[in-house]
Amino acid sequence: MKIVVEFSSPNVAKKFHVGHLRSTIIGNFIANLKEALGHQVTRINYLGDWGMQFGLLGTGFQLFGYEEKLQSLQHLFERLGIYFDEYSGESFYREKSQEVLKLLDSKGLLQKTIKGTAVVDLSGNGDPSSICTVMRSDGTSLYTTRDVAAAIDQMDKYNFDTMIYVTDKGQKKHFQQVFQMLKIMGYDWAERCQHVPFGVVQGMKTRRGDVTFLEDVLNEIRLRMLQNMASIKTTNELENPQETAERVGLAALIIQDFRGLLLSDYQFSWDRVFQSRGDTGVFLQYTHARLHSLEETLGCGYLNNLNTGCLQEPQSISILQHLLRFDEVLFRSSQDLQPRHIVSYLLTLSHLAAVAHKTLQIKDSPPDVAGARLHLFKAVRSVLAHGMKLLGIIPVYRM
Ligand code: ARG
Repeated sequence: MKIVVEFSSPNVAKKFHVGHLRSTIIGNFIANLKEALGHQVTRINYLGDWGMQFGLLGTGFQLFGYEEKLQSLQHLFERLGIYFDEYSGESFYREKSQEVLKLLDSKGLLQKTIKGTAVVDLSGNGDPSSICTVMRSDGTSLYTTRDVAAAIDQMDKYNFDTMIYVTDKGQKKHFQQVFQMLKIMGYDWAERCQHVPFGVVQGMKTRRGDVTFLEDVLNEIRLRMLQNMASIKTTNELENPQETAERVGLAALIIQDFRGLLLSDYQFSWDRVFQSRGDTGVFLQYTHARLHSLEETLGCGYLNNLNTGCLQEPQSISILQHLLRFDEVLFRSSQDLQPRHIVSYLLTLSHLAAVAHKTLQIKDSPPDVAGARLHLFKAVRSVLAHGMKLLGIIPVYRM
C-alpha cells in the first residue's frame, strides 16, 4: 500500500512549539511502523504560513530566511534521526486553491455572502454549524481551502491508499471539514484520509523558559542527561558522551510521551522523564547497552552452540513466549496507530531480560547451555533494538 504521512508541519514565520514536537515524533513513529510492515511510505512536512511574510517583506530577504529555516529544520531532524521525502507548504497551494474555488463554483457548491466571502455548506441542508468559509472577501483562500488543494495534489502525485495527518486535537474539526469538502466535491478517495489527533502537553519548560524551539528541548535533554550520567562511572569511558546523552534523553522523552493514549493531555515533568527506576526510556537504553556488553564480553565463541533444548527454565520460556508476540503487537499498533502497545511490550521485555540476566548464568555453564542463553539474550536485544527504532529511538551500545 502507498501511505502518505504528513507530520511536524511547523509555521515557518512563527515559533516551533510542543505541539509540533509531538507531531514530529508521532508522525515519525507512524511512518517507521508502516514502512516496517512493508508499505511504501512518503513523509511530508507541510510548512505553514510563511507565504504571508512573502507578500509583506522583500522577496530576496524572505527567500533567504526561508532557506535558512529549512536548513535548520533539516539539521534538527538529522539530530533526531527524522527525515522527510517532501517539504511542502501552504504557500505552494495559493494558486491551486483558486482552482479549488472554481471547481466548487462549477459544481454549484460555492455560495457568496453579503460580506463578500464565499462559503460551502458541507451538510447540504443549511445546518449553520456546517457552513465552512473557503474564501476571504479579498478573494484569497483560507487554511481549509489550501488543505483541500494540497490533498488533491498529493493524490495526483502519489495515488495514495492512505493519507495520514498528525496534529493536535484542536484541528479535529478542521480535518473533518477538509475531508467532507473533498467528499462532496466527488472525490471518493476522501475516505482514505485520516486525521491522527493528539492531546496537549502542559508545562514543558526549559531553563531558558517555555519551549519555543525544538533545539531548546534537545539541548535541555542533553544537558540533564549528561548530569545524570556523570554519576555513573562508565560515562568517563564513553567515546561521545554528548551523543549518548542525547540519545538516552530522547528515549526518555519519547517513552514518556508514548506511554498513554495519544489523545490524552498530560502534565510534562522532567523528573518523571529522567526517573532512573521504573518504566522509562532510560531503562530501555540501559537494558540494550547491558545486553550488548554481554555479547561483547563473552565473545562469539559461545554462539557456535545452539541447542534450543537447553532453554527450559521458566525465565527462558517466558522470554521466548514474549518474543513470539512481537508481530501481534506491531499489528495492533498499526491498527489503532497508538505506540503504547509497543512501549509496554518493550518495557516488559526489558524486565524479563533483567530477571533472566540475574538468574541464568552464562560464563560458568556448559557450552551448549551458555550458547543457547547467549542466543536468547541476543534475540532479546535485536527485538528491543528493532522496537526502539520504530518508536524513533536510536539504541545506544554503551552508557
Ligand atoms: N502548520 C499548522 C500549525 O502549526 C499545522 C499543519 C497541519 N497540516 C495540515 N495539512 N493542515 O498549526
